Amino acid sequence: MKFDTKVVRASSIPDPTTGSVVPPIHQTATYVLEEVGKDKGFDYTRASNPTRALLEHHLAEIEGAKYGICFSSGMSAVDSVLKILKSGDHIVCSDDVYGGVSRHFNEVLVNYGLEFSYVNTSNPSEVEKAIKSNTKLLWVETPTNPLLKVTDLDAMNKIAKENKILFGVDSTFSTPVFLKPLEFGADIVMHSTTKYLSGHNQIIGGAILTDNEDIFNKMKFIQKTIGAVSSPFDCYLTMLGLRTLHLRMERHNDNAQAVAEYLESHDKVSRVAYPGLQSDPGHEIAKKQMKGFSGMISFELKGGIPAGKHVMNNVKLCFLAESLGAVESMITHPATMTHADVPAEDRHARGLTDGLVRLSVGIEDKEDIIEDLKNALKHA
Ligand SMILES: Cc1ncc(COP(=O)(O)O)c(C=O)c1O
Repeated sequence: MKFDTKVVRASSIPDPTTGSVVPPIHQTATYVLEEVGKDKGFDYTRASNPTRALLEHHLAEIEGAKYGICFSSGMSAVDSVLKILKSGDHIVCSDDVYGGVSRHFNEVLVNYGLEFSYVNTSNPSEVEKAIKSNTKLLWVETPTNPLLKVTDLDAMNKIAKENKILFGVDSTFSTPVFLKPLEFGADIVMHSTTKYLSGHNQIIGGAILTDNEDIFNKMKFIQKTIGAVSSPFDCYLTMLGLRTLHLRMERHNDNAQAVAEYLESHDKVSRVAYPGLQSDPGHEIAKKQMKGFSGMISFELKGGIPAGKHVMNNVKLCFLAESLGAVESMITHPATMTHADVPAEDRHARGLTDGLVRLSVGIEDKEDIIEDLKNALKHA
Protein backbone atom coordinates (compact mmCIF):
# COMPACT_ATOMS: atom_id res chain seq x y z
CA MET A 1 0.00 0.00 0.00
CA LYS A 2 1.28 3.47 -0.90
CA PHE A 3 1.87 6.09 1.81
CA ASP A 4 -1.17 8.27 0.99
CA THR A 5 -3.46 5.26 1.07
CA LYS A 6 -2.11 4.25 4.47
CA VAL A 7 -2.73 7.76 5.78
CA VAL A 8 -6.39 7.51 4.77
CA ARG A 9 -7.08 3.85 5.39
CA ALA A 10 -4.78 2.35 8.02
CA SER A 11 -7.46 2.65 10.72
CA SER A 12 -10.50 2.47 8.41
CA ILE A 13 -11.23 -1.11 9.30
CA PRO A 14 -15.00 -1.69 9.23
CA ASP A 15 -16.26 -2.75 12.65
CA PRO A 16 -16.95 -6.52 12.40
CA THR A 17 -20.22 -6.35 14.37
CA THR A 18 -21.90 -3.41 12.61
CA GLY A 19 -19.88 -2.61 9.47
CA SER A 20 -19.34 0.94 10.77
CA VAL A 21 -16.73 2.65 8.57
CA VAL A 22 -15.66 4.99 11.35
CA PRO A 23 -14.06 3.05 14.21
CA PRO A 24 -16.17 2.83 17.36
CA ILE A 25 -15.02 4.58 20.54
CA HIS A 26 -14.39 1.88 23.12
CA GLN A 27 -15.13 4.10 26.12
CA THR A 28 -14.59 1.50 28.80
CA ALA A 29 -12.31 1.08 31.79
CA THR A 30 -12.42 -2.70 31.87
CA TYR A 31 -13.39 -5.88 29.98
CA VAL A 32 -15.30 -9.01 31.02
CA LEU A 33 -13.17 -12.14 30.90
CA GLU A 34 -14.50 -15.30 29.26
CA GLU A 35 -13.15 -17.29 32.18
CA VAL A 36 -10.27 -16.97 34.64
CA GLY A 37 -7.07 -16.40 32.67
CA LYS A 38 -8.90 -15.95 29.35
CA ASP A 39 -9.60 -12.46 27.99
CA LYS A 40 -10.14 -11.20 24.43
CA GLY A 41 -6.81 -9.38 24.33
CA PHE A 42 -7.89 -6.55 26.62
CA ASP A 43 -8.19 -6.53 30.39
CA TYR A 44 -7.91 -2.92 31.61
CA THR A 45 -7.80 0.31 29.58
CA ARG A 46 -4.65 1.68 31.24
CA ALA A 47 -2.86 -1.36 29.79
CA SER A 48 -4.61 -1.38 26.40
CA ASN A 49 -7.79 -0.30 24.69
CA PRO A 50 -9.10 -1.21 21.20
CA THR A 51 -9.49 2.42 20.08
CA ARG A 52 -5.99 3.28 21.26
CA ALA A 53 -4.60 0.09 19.69
CA LEU A 54 -6.10 1.10 16.33
CA LEU A 55 -4.52 4.57 16.53
CA GLU A 56 -1.18 2.98 17.49
CA HIS A 57 -1.47 0.73 14.44
CA HIS A 58 -2.31 3.71 12.20
CA LEU A 59 0.64 5.78 13.43
CA ALA A 60 3.06 2.86 13.11
CA GLU A 61 1.88 2.21 9.54
CA ILE A 62 2.46 5.77 8.35
CA GLU A 63 5.80 6.13 10.16
CA GLY A 64 6.92 2.81 8.64
CA ALA A 65 7.51 1.45 12.16
CA LYS A 66 6.89 -1.99 13.60
CA TYR A 67 5.47 -0.63 16.86
CA GLY A 68 3.48 2.40 18.01
CA ILE A 69 2.62 3.51 21.54
CA CYS A 70 0.31 6.41 22.34
CA PHE A 71 0.50 8.70 25.36
CA SER A 72 -1.68 11.39 26.91
CA SER A 73 0.61 14.18 25.63
CA GLY A 74 3.82 14.77 23.74
CA MET A 75 5.43 15.52 27.09
CA SER A 76 4.41 12.18 28.60
CA ALA A 77 5.79 10.45 25.49
CA VAL A 78 9.17 12.22 25.99
CA ASP A 79 9.05 11.46 29.72
CA SER A 80 8.46 7.77 29.02
CA VAL A 81 11.50 7.60 26.74
CA LEU A 82 13.66 9.09 29.51
CA LYS A 83 12.21 6.53 31.95
CA ILE A 84 14.02 3.72 30.12
CA LEU A 85 17.27 5.32 31.37
CA LYS A 86 18.77 5.08 34.85
CA SER A 87 20.14 7.50 37.42
CA GLY A 88 23.68 8.49 36.40
CA ASP A 89 22.94 8.33 32.66
CA HIS A 90 23.83 11.29 30.46
CA ILE A 91 21.76 12.65 27.57
CA VAL A 92 22.97 14.84 24.71
CA CYS A 93 20.08 17.00 23.50
CA SER A 94 19.48 19.63 20.78
CA ASP A 95 19.93 23.06 22.34
CA ASP A 96 16.81 24.53 20.74
CA VAL A 97 14.24 21.98 21.92
CA TYR A 98 10.65 22.92 22.79
CA GLY A 99 10.71 24.83 26.11
CA GLY A 100 8.51 22.26 27.88
CA VAL A 101 11.07 19.54 27.10
CA SER A 102 14.05 21.44 28.51
CA ARG A 103 11.93 22.49 31.53
CA HIS A 104 11.14 18.82 32.20
CA PHE A 105 14.78 17.78 31.81
CA ASN A 106 16.24 20.64 33.89
CA GLU A 107 13.65 20.97 36.62
CA VAL A 108 12.30 17.45 37.06
CA LEU A 109 14.53 14.74 35.65
CA VAL A 110 17.81 16.15 37.01
CA ASN A 111 16.36 15.42 40.46
CA TYR A 112 16.36 11.73 39.54
CA GLY A 113 20.05 11.66 38.66
CA LEU A 114 19.86 12.17 34.88
CA GLU A 115 22.44 14.53 33.40
CA PHE A 116 21.91 16.68 30.30
CA SER A 117 24.17 18.49 27.82
CA TYR A 118 22.62 20.83 25.26
CA VAL A 119 24.44 21.30 21.99
CA ASN A 120 23.76 22.65 18.54
CA THR A 121 22.97 19.33 16.84
CA SER A 122 23.14 21.09 13.45
CA ASN A 123 26.89 20.87 14.04
CA PRO A 124 27.90 17.16 14.34
CA SER A 125 31.32 17.96 15.82
CA GLU A 126 29.62 19.64 18.81
CA VAL A 127 27.63 16.44 19.35
CA GLU A 128 30.76 14.28 19.15
CA LYS A 129 32.53 16.46 21.71
CA ALA A 130 29.59 16.25 24.13
CA ILE A 131 29.51 12.42 24.26
CA LYS A 132 30.80 11.01 27.57
CA SER A 133 31.36 7.51 28.90
CA ASN A 134 27.90 7.60 30.58
CA THR A 135 26.02 9.01 27.56
CA LYS A 136 23.05 6.77 26.81
CA LEU A 137 20.79 8.86 24.60
CA LEU A 138 21.10 11.39 21.79
CA TRP A 139 17.84 13.37 21.62
CA VAL A 140 17.31 15.47 18.51
CA GLU A 141 14.47 17.78 17.50
CA THR A 142 14.40 18.65 13.77
CA PRO A 143 13.40 21.24 12.71
CA THR A 144 13.56 22.76 16.18
CA ASN A 145 10.94 24.72 18.05
CA PRO A 146 11.11 27.69 17.64
CA LEU A 147 14.28 28.49 15.62
CA LEU A 148 13.67 25.85 12.92
CA LYS A 149 17.23 24.55 13.10
CA VAL A 150 17.73 21.44 10.97
CA THR A 151 19.87 18.48 12.06
CA ASP A 152 21.57 16.04 9.70
CA LEU A 153 20.12 12.69 10.76
CA ASP A 154 22.70 10.59 8.85
CA ALA A 155 25.48 12.32 10.78
CA MET A 156 23.66 11.84 14.12
CA ASN A 157 23.06 8.17 13.40
CA LYS A 158 26.75 7.62 12.67
CA ILE A 159 27.72 9.22 15.99
CA ALA A 160 25.05 7.28 17.89
CA LYS A 161 26.06 3.92 16.38
CA GLU A 162 29.81 4.54 16.88
CA ASN A 163 29.18 5.32 20.55
CA LYS A 164 26.49 2.64 21.03
CA ILE A 165 23.90 5.09 22.33
CA LEU A 166 20.18 5.33 21.68
CA PHE A 167 19.14 7.82 19.03
CA GLY A 168 15.74 9.49 19.42
CA VAL A 169 14.11 12.11 17.19
CA ASP A 170 11.27 14.47 18.06
CA SER A 171 9.74 14.68 14.58
CA THR A 172 6.70 16.75 15.56
CA PHE A 173 7.47 19.58 13.11
CA SER A 174 8.24 17.27 10.18
CA THR A 175 5.54 14.58 10.39
CA PRO A 176 5.95 11.29 8.48
CA VAL A 177 4.72 13.07 5.36
CA PHE A 178 8.06 14.90 5.13
CA LEU A 179 10.52 12.89 7.19
CA LYS A 180 10.89 9.30 8.42
CA PRO A 181 13.69 9.28 11.01
CA LEU A 182 13.67 5.46 11.25
CA GLU A 183 14.95 5.37 7.66
CA PHE A 184 17.98 7.35 8.90
CA GLY A 185 18.68 4.86 11.67
CA ALA A 186 16.80 6.46 14.58
CA ASP A 187 15.83 4.00 17.32
CA ILE A 188 12.89 6.08 18.54
CA VAL A 189 10.61 8.60 16.83
CA MET A 190 8.43 10.83 18.97
CA HIS A 191 5.50 13.06 18.01
CA SER A 192 3.32 15.49 19.86
CA THR A 193 0.13 14.28 18.14
CA THR A 194 -1.46 17.46 19.50
CA LYS A 195 0.03 19.17 16.45
CA TYR A 196 -0.08 18.21 12.77
CA LEU A 197 -1.04 14.56 13.23
CA SER A 198 -4.42 15.32 14.81
CA GLY A 199 -4.35 18.70 13.08
CA HIS A 200 -7.47 20.48 14.31
CA ASN A 201 -6.58 21.81 17.79
CA GLN A 202 -8.91 19.14 19.18
CA ILE A 203 -6.74 16.97 21.47
CA ILE A 204 -3.52 16.73 23.48
CA GLY A 205 -1.56 13.56 22.71
CA GLY A 206 1.81 11.99 22.06
CA ALA A 207 3.27 8.93 20.35
CA ILE A 208 6.42 6.84 20.20
CA LEU A 209 7.28 4.75 17.14
CA THR A 210 10.06 2.21 16.97
CA ASP A 211 11.29 -0.90 15.14
CA ASN A 212 13.14 -2.13 18.21
CA GLU A 213 11.24 -4.84 20.10
CA ASP A 214 13.21 -4.34 23.30
CA ILE A 215 12.48 -0.59 23.34
CA PHE A 216 8.85 -1.30 22.53
CA ASN A 217 8.48 -3.78 25.39
CA LYS A 218 10.11 -1.39 27.85
CA MET A 219 7.96 1.52 26.74
CA LYS A 220 4.77 -0.53 26.74
CA PHE A 221 5.58 -1.55 30.31
CA ILE A 222 6.14 2.10 31.28
CA GLN A 223 2.91 3.12 29.52
CA LYS A 224 0.78 0.63 31.44
CA THR A 225 2.62 1.13 34.73
CA ILE A 226 2.53 4.93 34.78
CA GLY A 227 -0.76 5.24 32.94
CA ALA A 228 -0.14 8.42 30.94
CA VAL A 229 -2.51 7.16 28.25
CA SER A 230 -4.77 9.09 25.93
CA SER A 231 -8.52 8.64 26.29
CA PRO A 232 -10.43 6.55 23.73
CA PHE A 233 -12.24 9.71 22.61
CA ASP A 234 -8.95 11.56 22.02
CA CYS A 235 -7.62 8.55 20.07
CA TYR A 236 -10.77 8.53 17.95
CA LEU A 237 -10.48 12.26 17.20
CA THR A 238 -6.81 11.82 16.32
CA MET A 239 -7.65 9.02 13.86
CA LEU A 240 -10.24 11.22 12.12
CA GLY A 241 -7.68 14.02 11.85
CA LEU A 242 -5.01 11.67 10.52
CA ARG A 243 -7.06 10.72 7.46
CA THR A 244 -6.26 14.05 5.76
CA LEU A 245 -2.68 14.45 7.01
CA HIS A 246 -1.05 14.22 3.56
CA LEU A 247 -3.38 16.83 2.06
CA ARG A 248 -3.07 19.18 4.99
CA MET A 249 0.73 18.95 5.05
CA GLU A 250 0.96 19.77 1.34
CA ARG A 251 -1.08 22.92 1.93
CA HIS A 252 0.81 23.86 5.12
CA ASN A 253 4.03 23.51 3.13
CA ASP A 254 2.86 25.56 0.11
CA ASN A 255 1.38 28.31 2.27
CA ALA A 256 4.44 28.50 4.54
CA GLN A 257 6.78 28.80 1.55
CA ALA A 258 4.73 31.71 0.18
CA VAL A 259 4.47 33.41 3.59
CA ALA A 260 8.20 32.96 4.31
CA GLU A 261 9.11 34.47 0.92
CA TYR A 262 6.74 37.37 1.57
CA LEU A 263 8.25 38.02 5.01
CA GLU A 264 11.79 37.75 3.69
CA SER A 265 11.08 40.46 1.11
CA HIS A 266 9.41 42.80 3.65
CA ASP A 267 11.53 45.82 4.56
CA LYS A 268 10.50 45.70 8.25
CA VAL A 269 11.61 42.08 8.70
CA SER A 270 15.24 41.50 9.71
CA ARG A 271 15.39 37.69 9.77
CA VAL A 272 13.21 34.77 8.66
CA ALA A 273 13.86 31.16 9.67
CA TYR A 274 12.19 28.64 7.37
CA PRO A 275 14.06 25.60 6.00
CA GLY A 276 12.35 26.07 2.62
CA LEU A 277 14.15 29.37 2.02
CA GLN A 278 17.41 29.10 0.09
CA SER A 279 18.92 31.61 2.51
CA ASP A 280 18.17 29.36 5.51
CA PRO A 281 21.27 27.65 6.98
CA GLY A 282 19.34 24.36 7.21
CA HIS A 283 18.05 24.44 3.62
CA GLU A 284 20.52 22.00 2.03
CA ILE A 285 20.21 19.36 4.77
CA ALA A 286 16.43 19.77 4.84
CA LYS A 287 16.30 19.31 1.06
CA LYS A 288 18.41 16.16 1.36
CA GLN A 289 16.40 14.44 4.09
CA MET A 290 12.87 15.89 3.92
CA LYS A 291 10.17 15.71 1.25
CA GLY A 292 8.86 19.17 2.21
CA PHE A 293 9.64 21.88 4.73
CA SER A 294 6.38 21.85 6.72
CA GLY A 295 4.45 24.86 8.00
CA MET A 296 6.45 26.56 10.77
CA ILE A 297 8.19 29.93 10.40
CA SER A 298 10.00 32.20 12.88
CA PHE A 299 10.88 35.79 12.18
CA GLU A 300 12.23 38.95 13.74
CA LEU A 301 11.48 42.56 12.97
CA LYS A 302 13.91 45.44 12.61
CA GLY A 303 11.84 47.28 15.25
CA GLY A 304 12.70 44.54 17.79
CA ILE A 305 10.42 43.61 20.66
CA PRO A 306 7.81 46.41 20.35
CA ALA A 307 7.42 45.75 16.62
CA GLY A 308 7.06 41.98 17.15
CA LYS A 309 4.43 42.53 19.84
CA HIS A 310 2.61 44.99 17.58
CA VAL A 311 2.31 42.35 14.85
CA MET A 312 1.11 39.67 17.28
CA ASN A 313 -1.47 42.03 18.79
CA ASN A 314 -2.77 43.24 15.43
CA VAL A 315 -3.26 40.10 13.36
CA LYS A 316 -6.93 39.31 12.82
CA LEU A 317 -7.00 36.01 10.91
CA CYS A 318 -4.07 34.37 12.74
CA PHE A 319 -4.92 33.38 16.30
CA LEU A 320 -2.60 34.66 19.03
CA ALA A 321 -2.33 31.28 20.75
CA GLU A 322 0.01 28.59 22.03
CA SER A 323 0.40 25.43 19.97
CA LEU A 324 0.92 24.81 16.28
CA GLY A 325 0.22 22.44 13.44
CA ALA A 326 -3.54 22.93 13.23
CA VAL A 327 -5.63 23.98 10.24
CA GLU A 328 -5.88 27.54 11.65
CA SER A 329 -2.88 29.88 11.36
CA MET A 330 -1.52 30.68 14.82
CA ILE A 331 0.99 33.26 15.96
CA THR A 332 3.03 32.95 19.16
CA HIS A 333 5.54 34.94 21.19
CA PRO A 334 7.99 32.21 22.32
CA ALA A 335 9.69 34.38 24.97
CA THR A 336 6.47 34.88 26.96
CA MET A 337 4.45 31.86 25.82
CA THR A 338 5.92 28.51 24.69
CA HIS A 339 9.44 29.12 26.04
CA ALA A 340 8.64 31.38 29.01
CA ASP A 341 10.17 28.90 31.45
CA VAL A 342 13.54 28.84 29.68
CA PRO A 343 15.72 31.29 31.67
CA ALA A 344 16.26 34.54 29.70
CA GLU A 345 20.02 34.01 29.71
CA ASP A 346 19.67 30.54 28.12
CA ARG A 347 17.08 31.79 25.63
CA HIS A 348 19.34 34.61 24.47
CA ALA A 349 22.41 32.36 24.33
CA ARG A 350 20.67 30.07 21.87
CA GLY A 351 19.41 32.93 19.68
CA LEU A 352 15.84 32.95 20.93
CA THR A 353 15.43 36.71 21.24
CA ASP A 354 12.58 38.49 22.99
CA GLY A 355 11.49 39.90 19.62
CA LEU A 356 11.11 36.51 17.91
CA VAL A 357 7.68 35.74 16.44
CA ARG A 358 6.67 32.14 15.66
CA LEU A 359 4.04 31.49 13.04
CA SER A 360 2.23 28.22 12.45
CA VAL A 361 0.95 28.68 8.93
CA GLY A 362 -2.50 27.12 8.54
CA ILE A 363 -4.31 25.78 5.51
CA GLU A 364 -6.44 28.85 4.78
CA ASP A 365 -5.96 30.73 1.47
CA LYS A 366 -2.36 31.95 1.52
CA GLU A 367 -3.40 35.35 0.18
CA ASP A 368 -5.57 35.92 3.25
CA ILE A 369 -2.70 34.94 5.58
CA ILE A 370 -0.32 37.30 3.77
CA GLU A 371 -2.90 40.10 3.79
CA ASP A 372 -3.36 39.64 7.55
CA LEU A 373 0.40 39.91 8.14
CA LYS A 374 0.70 42.85 5.74
CA ASN A 375 -1.92 44.81 7.70
CA ALA A 376 -0.37 43.91 11.06
CA LEU A 377 3.07 44.93 9.80
CA LYS A 378 1.90 48.36 8.58
CA HIS A 379 2.58 50.26 11.79
CA ALA A 380 5.13 47.89 13.29
C1 LIG B 1 8.50 19.88 19.22
C2 LIG B 1 7.59 19.60 20.38
N1 LIG B 1 7.80 18.48 21.11
C3 LIG B 1 7.01 18.18 22.17
C4 LIG B 1 5.97 19.01 22.54
C5 LIG B 1 5.12 18.64 23.72
O1 LIG B 1 3.87 18.17 23.26
P1 LIG B 1 2.50 18.28 24.07
O2 LIG B 1 2.15 19.73 24.17
O3 LIG B 1 1.55 17.47 23.26
O4 LIG B 1 2.75 17.69 25.43
C6 LIG B 1 5.72 20.18 21.81
C7 LIG B 1 4.64 21.09 22.20
O5 LIG B 1 4.54 22.20 21.71
C8 LIG B 1 6.56 20.48 20.70
O6 LIG B 1 6.38 21.59 19.96
